[in-house]
Amino acid sequence: MEQAMSAQNYMSGFGNSFATEAVAGALPQGQNSPQRTPFGLYAEQLSGSAFTAPRHENRRSWLYRLRPTASHAPFLPYEGGKLVRSGPFDEVPPSPNRLRWDPLPIPAEPTDFVDGLATYAGNGDAATGVGVAIHLYAANRSMQGRVFYDADGELLIVPQDGALLVATELGRLDVAPGEIAVIPRGVRFRVELHGPSARGYVCESYGAPFRLPDLGPIGSNGLANPRDFLTPVAWFEDRDEPTEVVQKFQGRLWTCTLNHSPLDVVAWHGNLAPYKYDLANFNTINTVSFDHPDPSIFTVLTSPSEIPGTANCDFVIFPPRWMVAEHTFRPPWFHRNVMSEFMGLIHGAYDAKAGGFAPGGASLHNCMSGHGPDKASYEGAVAAGLGPHKIENTMAFMFESRWVIRPTRFAVETPLAQPDYDDCWADFTKAELPR
Ligand SMILES: [Fe+2]
Repeated sequence: MEQAMSAQNYMSGFGNSFATEAVAGALPQGQNSPQRTPFGLYAEQLSGSAFTAPRHENRRSWLYRLRPTASHAPFLPYEGGKLVRSGPFDEVPPSPNRLRWDPLPIPAEPTDFVDGLATYAGNGDAATGVGVAIHLYAANRSMQGRVFYDADGELLIVPQDGALLVATELGRLDVAPGEIAVIPRGVRFRVELHGPSARGYVCESYGAPFRLPDLGPIGSNGLANPRDFLTPVAWFEDRDEPTEVVQKFQGRLWTCTLNHSPLDVVAWHGNLAPYKYDLANFNTINTVSFDHPDPSIFTVLTSPSEIPGTANCDFVIFPPRWMVAEHTFRPPWFHRNVMSEFMGLIHGAYDAKAGGFAPGGASLHNCMSGHGPDKASYEGAVAAGLGPHKIENTMAFMFESRWVIRPTRFAVETPLAQPDYDDCWADFTKAELPR
């Protein structure tokens, strides 16, 4: 049933209740669990929220598949994924220092998406459903004969280099750099590479599923618009061959091998499904008078915590945009933030850093750590003419969390960590008061 890698078919809308079938007549009509399903498919409900969650937060889908997911042997500990870590993050003391890393190199050994994951930092605890883990991946081959799923959280995948085909139980997503994919907790998927290698970032959210932020006075349109989120139509593969299932459960990886591919959902309906979004569709809103607003104006998706407006994790981008502010320091200002900020760069240059923050690299500015433009960016912005200027050919992003983002031992000890990051804020000249 496998088809060549190609443009996939999608359904439009964020959080919609979709209905889709890969074989005509496979989707039961009028009820979820008929006594006899079409073609003898197995009906299975996949719940992404408590049964009793309020309707606007309730997420579930009904899957109709060749075999029930329940048929499998015991999972055993998985020996790969050596750099995967999970909350609680207590390998090393959380550093108050500002940290920055060079890009993760593409591995020399054959490495797929799962084994190519390296956890840089995180907070909270998978056991209590609070916090995030932030991983980077670098791979040079497709997942072969296996799939992965994460019982600990939802995965927001941000490709930086190399397009991916993400084949999931609910359909297939082509995701290129500049796009993101979100895989709900528990959904099985296989990552295939369109090219020789791939690199990117993954935010694993243990908390509430990502949703669109409220818009307040912005009104009913703007930022990421719902119709630009794309969910794949039903697709399945009928493969009776050994397929390994690797899962992340309570911080550890486990494996078991089926005698068939579990990507065998012939039809499904519901509102719990993977989706993708092209960041180029973000409707950027910013000042047309003076002072640039808080970067929350760039929020694409948010995983809320129980405190209103204080996110478990915000996914924020810094997209191409016009800068028109009058009598204003235009780059991101100096600041200290109660929230903690992990940044990545998909391509181009970030307007607060003249050098050192490379595409594929990362930085971490934790709670109350002073940061902002480097000296070169600052001096350039102070001297710049303030005509309309378009920042182009760039896409930086941030995972921002209410809890301190604690680096892993790997992140602290890797030679990718830049020992001289503090230097970019050295040598600012002292302000001169009138005598
Ligand atoms: Fe910041």
